[in-house]
Amino acid sequence: MPPKVLVVGSANADLVVAVDRRPGGGETVLGADTVVLPGGKGANTAVAAAKLGASVALLGAVGDDQYGALLRESLRGAGVRAELVRTADRPTGIAYITVTPDGENSIVVSPGANAQVSSSDVDAAVEALRGARVLVCSLEVPVASVEHAVALAAEAGVRPLVNLSPVAELSARTLAALDPLVVNEHEAGWLLGEPDPADDAVTLAGRLLELGPRSVVITLGARGAVVATADGAHRVAAPSVRAVDTTGAGDAFAGALAVRLAEGDGLAEAAGYAARVAATSVTRNGAQPSYPSTDEVVA
Ligand code: RIB
Ligand code: NA
Repeated sequence: MPPKVLVVGSANADLVVAVDRRPGGGETVLGADTVVLPGGKGANTAVAAAKLGASVALLGAVGDDQYGALLRESLRGAGVRAELVRTADRPTGIAYITVTPDGENSIVVSPGANAQVSSSDVDAAVEALRGARVLVCSLEVPVASVEHAVALAAEAGVRPLVNLSPVAELSARTLAALDPLVVNEHEAGWLLGEPDPADDAVTLAGRLLELGPRSVVITLGARGAVVATADGAHRVAAPSVRAVDTTGAGDAFAGALAVRLAEGDGLAEAAGYAARVAATSVTRNGAQPSYPSTDEVVA
C-alpha cells in the first residue's frame, strides 16, 4: 500500500544548546550542555504526521554514521516508512540550534546528505508518490528535486503542499500547482519583496495568492494562521500555551495540515487543527520528541 502522505525533505541531527542570549559577531557566550535530537524539516514533518496516526513515508537521505542511525531510529519509533530514505556518501545533515529562554530558536544547517536528494530519487519513488493523497515538501533539499516531485504530483492528481522553509525561488509552474503554499510571516515577506509594513497577514495572504498558488497558509506562531483561497482569506486561531521551545513547530503544523487534508478536511478546518498540534509542540523541548499523538493535542 502506498503511504497517504509522502514527505520529501531533510533529516538532520539537531545539536541544541540553551543560551541566555545569542552571541554577536566576535563574541563568545557560554551555554548549557549540548543535547542531540532527531530533526530536519522533512523528518520532523513526517514524524508529526505519523504520530497523528497517518500512513507516512519520507523520501530523503542520511549518511552512514551515528546521526543517520539516530534519524532512522526516530522515524521507526514514530511509524514513518523509511524505505525511500537513502544512505548517501556524505555525512548526515546537522543543525546547530540555540534556544533562548523565551523559547525562540536560531538555526544553522549543514546539509550533508540532504544535498544529495535528487530528481532521480524522486523518479525512483514515483509509485509511492502517485499512490499518495498529499505530497509535502520543504526546502532543505535541492529545489530542483522539490519542483520535480511537485510536477509529478500535480500530473497524478496528488495534492502538493510546499512549506517554503528555508525560503527558495520556485518557478511559476511549481507555484501554480501548490494547494497550499505554506509560509511564515518572514517567508511571506521574502516572497513579496518589500511588503508594506502596514499590511496585515490577511492582506499578505491575498497578495501571495496573486503569485499563483491555488491556496495559501501563513503561519503566525502564537497568533494562529491565515488561510486564503480564491473564495477569500480568513484567520484561524491558536490555543494559548506557554512556549518553552518553538523548534520544529512549523514542521509539526505542515505535517498535521497534510494529515487532515489527506483525510478530506477543508483547508481552514485542517489549519485550525494544525495550529493546535503546533501549539502543543512548543510546550515541550526539541522538535520530533515534542510532537503529540492525537489524544495529546491541546484543545
Ligand atoms: O524546523 C526545525 C528544523 O530545522 C530543525 O529540526 C533543524 O534540523 C532544522 O532543519
Ligand atoms: Na518543541
